[in-house]
Amino acid sequence: MHIAVLAGDGIGQEIMVEALRVLEALDLPDLRLDHADVGGVAYRNHGHPLPPETLELAKSADAILFGAVGDPELDGLRRELRVESAVLGLRKELQLFANLRPAKAFAGLENLSALKPEIAGAIDLLILRELTGDVYFGEKGQRETATGRRQGYDIMAYDEDEVARIAHVAFKAAQGRRKKLCSVDKANVLQTSVLWRAVVEEVAAGYPDVELSHMYVDNAAMQMVRNPGQFDVMLTGNLFGDILSDQASMCVGSIGLLASASLGEGTRGLYEPIHGSAPDIAGQGIANPCAMILSAAMMLRHSFGMDAAAERVEAAVAAVLAQDVLGHDLGGDASTTQIGDAVVAQLTDD
Ligand code: IPM
Ligand code: MG
Repeated sequence: MHIAVLAGDGIGQEIMVEALRVLEALDLPDLRLDHADVGGVAYRNHGHPLPPETLELAKSADAILFGAVGDPELDGLRRELRVESAVLGLRKELQLFANLRPAKAFAGLENLSALKPEIAGAIDLLILRELTGDVYFGEKGQRETATGRRQGYDIMAYDEDEVARIAHVAFKAAQGRRKKLCSVDKANVLQTSVLWRAVVEEVAAGYPDVELSHMYVDNAAMQMVRNPGQFDVMLTGNLFGDILSDQASMCVGSIGLLASASLGEGTRGLYEPIHGSAPDIAGQGIANPCAMILSAAMMLRHSFGMDAAAERVEAAVAAVLAQDVLGHDLGGDASTTQIGDAVVAQLTDD
């Protein structure tokens, strides 16, 4: 089990410590951890947010545990050197096109959701976000219009193969769940979405057991707060999935709770919380490590086929939250280390 550990910036460093302690507590055989810089810390140490040695390590590892990148002091850098380009570059270089972002209510946390408890308690959905295309990776730039005005542009595009491969992942995921797939688009306005919808329909023919629906993204955003329990798997493009997953996190209770897996064709994956580096609280020891710990659980499941170990970690996190060991994001006062301690204790008590 060769894992590239890329903690990155801000709270990434602090939450990664706890995720690694949880892995150690599992007594896994043949665990090999190799650390490397990524993001702002890599820019400062090596002049690039994704240095070649970090990319090489990521390519040679079986899995990548990724903390967060983001550094406001470096926001002025040109786009290729911005710290976000590190995670975008890893996703693209490793062809990690399928991003799984599960959002499930935690028993006992319903009152901490931004929604009414009875509505929040019903959340059990998976956002399946395409991760290597869309407006994120289209041609972009700034230019001058004919009248000499500055103009920014980003081309949104998906080709049919990109849509088909993520659609297959989504249908298979739905088959392993409640067999409902909602494809999110903006087909009333965008040509990209018209093709997206047509290709999803074609792929659907191979999965007659899955109930497919389509929803415009504005409606999906509204439905997610009105009645999130209606969703099982939500299939989205890159941009819409980015936005809807942040929204889903607050419906569950906190952005500090949602994990993600980014997968390609093989078993290698990148595992990261959906939240960022939170520079406002970095270094204070108060970040919630749950999303990072749950990302490590997703790694055990998807890259190493260790479903039982993944479930143990997920159950330990749920138990700790149910015992009211809550971080500052959830209105409690447990520190990053205390939350990590509680999860480790739960695992050793098992
Ligand atoms: C995410 C983040 C990234 C994204 C940023 C850091 C580039 O918001 O993983 O959701 O937009 O994909
Ligand atoms: Mg995001």
